Amino acid sequence: MITHSKPWITEADQQAVVTVLSSGMIAQGQLVHQLETKVAHYLDVAGGVAVASGSSALVLALTALGVNNDDEVILPTYVCKSVMESVIGVGAKPVLCDIGHDGNMTQETIAAQVTSKTAVIIVVHIFGVAANTHALKCFGIPIIEDCCQAFGTSINGAKVGSIGTIGIFSFHATKCLTTGEGGMAVSNSSNLLEKMRSLRDGDSFSVKERITAPLTDLQAALGLSQLSRYSNFLQRRQEIANYYLHHLHNCSLELPAAINQISIFFRFPVRVNGNFETYQQQFHHHNIQVRRGVDNLLHRLLGLEPHQFPTAERLFAETVSLPIYPALSNAELQQVVLACHTIWSNQREY
Ligand SMILES: Cc1ncc(COP(=O)(O)O)c(C=O)c1O
Repeated sequence: MITHSKPWITEADQQAVVTVLSSGMIAQGQLVHQLETKVAHYLDVAGGVAVASGSSALVLALTALGVNNDDEVILPTYVCKSVMESVIGVGAKPVLCDIGHDGNMTQETIAAQVTSKTAVIIVVHIFGVAANTHALKCFGIPIIEDCCQAFGTSINGAKVGSIGTIGIFSFHATKCLTTGEGGMAVSNSSNLLEKMRSLRDGDSFSVKERITAPLTDLQAALGLSQLSRYSNFLQRRQEIANYYLHHLHNCSLELPAAINQISIFFRFPVRVNGNFETYQQQFHHHNIQVRRGVDNLLHRLLGLEPHQFPTAERLFAETVSLPIYPALSNAELQQVVLACHTIWSNQREY
């Protein structure tokens, strides 16, 4: 079966982890600190605080920004539910907004939801495609950039995560760079970095609020090893995307060509007419796993009216996400293209 995602683990990665294992220093230590420094350097930000997951990084960020019970936090309906769970986890009210055609929130969809209680806007860079964070600063409200799917994406010469108030990343096994589970919050504000570090680590002299979700040196060793060849990761994703763009243009589907310049192709979502489950079954017969763009829409989970989120509803119904990851071989890539041609062999209808 060609899986929808798969980590790319080399012998060098394995050796890096074994070396730490043999050293006996396997909890949060020097290597976590090194990973924070190198990720911050790569993103061109002042610093980073590593934690156990992207969701923990979001809780850390919201807490450091002082978000609490009376606050509203804006986020897109088109994202995984752990983002909303982190907002609820700090006691704030999630306020959902619709998205534009590239899957990201826009100035207009956000403007419709801003109130005097809005404390933070969570700007998600979905599928590895940069949202226009520079423009979204117009509201004068702190922005947490959710870059869990966009490690390395740039827009207007800046890496995402370096543009808003805080950026958060996930190093989950399905993400572009992995530590198994893991995450990081980054910022250019030394004040916020200090707050987040203190929330994670506490100190020996007082008892105070703590978010105990550490990353270990075992995990950081894998992350550092992956980071050292990260340009290869991005290059391979681009190659696969180019192959899809070149070989699928005759199929009856809409390709994400317009996003070519501002994406690292974390996902390769195609837009189709028809029922997702039927396509999923058809791919399954070809031994290929495809997914929806997101598993569910958050407004449905909250019981809100679908008509308030028309673009998200349309993208949810029409998007099929094809396998794209560096560990995908050329033979597997050709197999996916062949299956697409069999399933969507008609001429484009869009
Ligand atoms: C956009 C987005 N935000 C947040 C998360 C949460 O990250 P984690 O699974 O590391 O908690 C994910 C992971 O699926 C994600 O895709």
